[in-house]
Amino acid sequence: MADTGVLETLLQRVEKVDDGVDSLDVATSLGVDHQVIVGAVKSLQALGDVISAELRSSKHWELTEEGTEIAEQGSHESRVFSCIPLEGLAQSELMKLPFGKIGFSKAMSNKWIRVDKAHEGGPRIFRTVESIEDQVREKLFLVQKGNSTQLEEKEKNELKKRKLLSEVTVKSYWITKGNSFSTTITKQETELTPEMIASGNWKEKKFKPYNFEAMGVAPDCGHLHPLMKVRTQFRQIFLEMGFTEMPTNNFIESSFWNFDSLFQPQQHPARDQHDTFFLSDPAHAHQFPQDYLERVKKVHSEGGYGSQGYKYDWKIEEAQKNILRTHTTAVSARMLYKLAQQEKFTPVKYFSIDRVFRNETLDATHLAEFHQIEGVVADYGLTLGDLMGVLHQFFTKLGITKLRFKPAYNPYTEPSMEVFSYHEGLKKWVEVGNSGVFRPEMLLPMGLPEGVSVIAWGLSLERPTMIKYGINNIRELVGHKVNLQMVYDSPICRLDS
Ligand code: PHE
Repeated sequence: MADTGVLETLLQRVEKVDDGVDSLDVATSLGVDHQVIVGAVKSLQALGDVISAELRSSKHWELTEEGTEIAEQGSHESRVFSCIPLEGLAQSELMKLPFGKIGFSKAMSNKWIRVDKAHEGGPRIFRTVESIEDQVREKLFLVQKGNSTQLEEKEKNELKKRKLLSEVTVKSYWITKGNSFSTTITKQETELTPEMIASGNWKEKKFKPYNFEAMGVAPDCGHLHPLMKVRTQFRQIFLEMGFTEMPTNNFIESSFWNFDSLFQPQQHPARDQHDTFFLSDPAHAHQFPQDYLERVKKVHSEGGYGSQGYKYDWKIEEAQKNILRTHTTAVSARMLYKLAQQEKFTPVKYFSIDRVFRNETLDATHLAEFHQIEGVVADYGLTLGDLMGVLHQFFTKLGITKLRFKPAYNPYTEPSMEVFSYHEGLKKWVEVGNSGVFRPEMLLPMGLPEGVSVIAWGLSLERPTMIKYGINNIRELVGHKVNLQMVYDSPICRLDS
């Protein structure tokens, strides 16, 4: 908002005339920069219909740099005239002066001076008149004061030819009274406050209209880490497919649920210090469903349910060891056990996306922790065909349509399949997940009815996130070396289809 002084002065000028004022003239007569008046016009326009302003362009004469110099010091010819004494001046001396050459020829044609070519000692210059009138300077003065209209067009063009004047086009406003013209301005409110509403004085207030063209202020806001954005997308896919999320809020798990319940033998290398983080405090878990634990012990050591088991001495001490869970399949095991305790079996579709921990050697693609995505479907009569079908549906929703399956081994699934997808960028098949049909040795001790089969798959969240965001080193995505700017700048992930 321009200062109220200027606004009111401008309004007073507009009031005094019938047809209107030109902003440029107002600026000249107030001795302020034209932009100040333009600003005042804009402010008044924003107040509504106080004034009306029409943009005009007009031609206007201005002094050039040389013209300004002449207005200050006189024309070259007048300076030549004034430096010639009564006894005359050698022409060669005059020519040494910066204004000498031009001034000499102009003064000659004005007949202010003459040259005595026959003078001994070289041509000499003498005055021919007693005094002169510096009309060029006078004319430039007029233009400088904004009175160029007092000059004839011919005169101005002559000065333009001498490069003392130039004609410029200026845009100005032609300002007239508006329908709600007034010489005083009421401040417009920009905000409706609770006080105005309470006192009711908003009725008397004038409010500034909204400027919908104005750029908004960029809001300060939090940022989601790329992993969290991709997690949201996976969650969405599972929800669209009718899956329910499992509670994964326990990083610490007993070996019993992480391994034993999954029919993973106690001497399996994955249960080694080198692969698993063991807890020292509390080192052991003690609460297990006792009869289920007995059935797990039996199936490992003696077999049952048509299996011969592993035939080894199963130890409770090994199952009690607390660890950081190595996969979310431990949660799936707990959920399936819980499902088996229902009076009547109901089919379920479960998923989870959460952190798991492995005692790995760290490198560009491995950390000691990652997020595992897991899907589980339990129903009567599910087959490997169902697993392949559901994996196709799941990966298609991600934009991955070319899938291949490779036989694999997990202690808890039979058959097991690694899932590969064709990566168009890398032009090769890359592993995208692991899957299988849970073994009867795992499901039947839980108490699930015979004939119910459970298909499941798992993948990491980090791998697709790195591919989607073009990150080659996992340490740039997770951990203390993460550049927060990367997090701020990462767009909401769009999985290519
Ligand atoms: N638990 C497996 C892993 O950590 C993933 C998986 C889940 C495999 C379910 C088969 C079935 O890789």
